[in-house]
Amino acid sequence: SLTPTGDLVAAARNAGEGVGAFNVITIEHAEGVVAGAESAGAPAILQISQNAVRYRQNRVEPLAAACALIAEAAAVPIALHLDHVDDLDLLHRAADAGFGSVMFDASHLDYADNLAATRSAATWAHDNGLWIEAELGEVGGKDGVHSPTARTDPDEAVAYVSGTGVDALAVAVGSSHAMTAKSASLDIELVGRLRAAVPVPLVLHGSSGVLEDDLRRAVAAGLTKINVGTQLNVAFTGAVRRELADHARTDPRKYLRPARDAVAETVADVLSIISGRRAP
Ligand code: G3H
Ligand code: ZN
Repeated sequence: SLTPTGDLVAAARNAGEGVGAFNVITIEHAEGVVAGAESAGAPAILQISQNAVRYRQNRVEPLAAACALIAEAAAVPIALHLDHVDDLDLLHRAADAGFGSVMFDASHLDYADNLAATRSAATWAHDNGLWIEAELGEVGGKDGVHSPTARTDPDEAVAYVSGTGVDALAVAVGSSHAMTAKSASLDIELVGRLRAAVPVPLVLHGSSGVLEDDLRRAVAAGLTKINVGTQLNVAFTGAVRRELADHARTDPRKYLRPARDAVAETVADVLSIISGRRAP
């Protein structure tokens, strides 16, 4: 069923587990994520990024509506999150489009400008019933340039959270966006210091590139919302490529079905790693 993001994140944090947040580009992604969550017996977050909205011809509503209906029918709790928004017009469409939460991304700005922009986004979000995440210490890779060296300073993080009023904080602890192979290791010691200092749940971006053991240890050390995008697309596109290499296909269902199944399998794997649950 469709569940507020804040509820899923709070429950995971209290249990010392991670909750997976998975990027959706097509309806098959959303169906695959929910199927994977159901087979793992774990909740999950469907997230649509501003970049995905651009791909969807700048219309967020059709894909968001499909995700909400897929979530409603799910056997496990599923939340709907708008990811990496810096366009205020898009932000202001989030509540009506059915999202329970947004990530406002001003991480490319310097500290003072990030704080000011995020504080006003957070005020708007709370006035409109939305849970809001923001980022401090830019996680690289959004522009194709990997910078796993960025780090969030715990003292600055504490001041940022109290100055902005955000409900969750995305931190830079060694990951980088859009990595197609698992080779990033995380600064687990820093995760522990951030968890001890920061009063709100912590979010990991660029989780696709993180080594499995590091992901497990980082969740145990205090990361809660675990964002996975690229890993789903590696699985999705790999399945399409195999299907088309082996067969002369015309009907998209013939190659999108294995793609959706590959997404489901990947999601179940990730959820078993971060929630400590074992898929049946
Ligand atoms: O916000 C989305 C995530 O940070 C996804 O990152 O595509 O590198 O897994 P990823
Ligand atoms: Zn991200």
